[in-house]
Amino acid sequence: MSAPIGPTPDKVMQLITGGWAAAILGSAAKHGIFNALEGGGDDAAGVAKKTGISARGAQAVLDGLTGVGLLTLVNGRYQNTPEASAFLVKGKPTCLGGMAEVMTGSLTDWVTLPEAVKTGNPTATNTAEMADNDFWHVLVPAIAALSFPVAHMAAQRLGIAKAGAVRWLDVGGGSGVWSAVWLSANTQAKGVQLDWPVVNKIAKGFVATFGVADRFETIDGDFHTVDFGAAQYDFAIYGHIAHQETPADNVAIFRKFRKALKPGGTLLVNDFVLSDERTGHPFAMMFGAQMLLVTKGGNAWRQADYRTWLAEAGFASVDIVLTPSPATLVFAK
Ligand SMILES: C[S@@+](CC[C@H](N)C(=O)[O-])C[C@H]1O[C@@H](n2cnc3c(N)ncnc32)[C@H](O)[C@@H]1O
Repeated sequence: MSAPIGPTPDKVMQLITGGWAAAILGSAAKHGIFNALEGGGDDAAGVAKKTGISARGAQAVLDGLTGVGLLTLVNGRYQNTPEASAFLVKGKPTCLGGMAEVMTGSLTDWVTLPEAVKTGNPTATNTAEMADNDFWHVLVPAIAALSFPVAHMAAQRLGIAKAGAVRWLDVGGGSGVWSAVWLSANTQAKGVQLDWPVVNKIAKGFVATFGVADRFETIDGDFHTVDFGAAQYDFAIYGHIAHQETPADNVAIFRKFRKALKPGGTLLVNDFVLSDERTGHPFAMMFGAQMLLVTKGGNAWRQADYRTWLAEAGFASVDIVLTPSPATLVFAK
């Protein structure tokens, strides 16, 4: 007798234990397991030896990673899949391992989500809004990997390489990844970043690793209160910030950008943006819960929200471009 056809519990079970998968991935990243396997791969004993972890721990994590499809096991040797190799090997600019570590560390915040859902108020702290934060040195480069390919894509679309002696303002620039990518593409350009003093210090070190620090300046301060200046910049960047701000604050900041840009200058917003019908991007659809957890008025905003706010702030045209990453680019002139 064949089993009745119907839904299986697989997807629900996978989601129920999603935190386990995140923690297994975060642990592997922390202990350099993907680096240990890059190249020829290894068995569990070899991984334990190379990374200095217990044999029992190595086996548990290797099984877990194989289970979620990040490793393959052939003839007793574990190997990185192409995805693990591209995005989880430390030292590659696209490595998301630091982010996996940070997310594992924040899993304890998520146990408070049911309360935030009930009240509509945050139950954890948004570390990104803190001027001083012990985790900046981990957090800042971790986020950089997410922006790296998007900064390249935007540079191509805007023709940054051939734009001549242009200047841009990157508000909440974090690691300085946007400036690092754009300054590398254009040897005449100058990049200015506004962020907290501690973060700017980290950014200077990060940008220096690209050999372009001599054309990178920073302004220390809170972007809500710092004046962005008038008609000074050809481009402006607002990456992964709009989600932490309320609609009113985003409009106020967009007005400051409009004033700071030269006539014809372009503002570029990069963020997790929802379709107007609230059906995608899948990652952005979950990001609203993260904003509920840690902010009073942040959200994963819709494309229509950006269009409305940018028009209100004086931008005449808006182009919205999806990227292969979970982020969406918004170009406003
Ligand atoms: C999520 S990170 C984004 C970094 C970078 N823009 C990117 O896309 O990779 C947010 C950044 O905004 C900065 N930030 C948040 N609130 C700020 C504020 N009120 N004033 C200045 N910087 C702020 C944080 O220090 C952090 O570097």
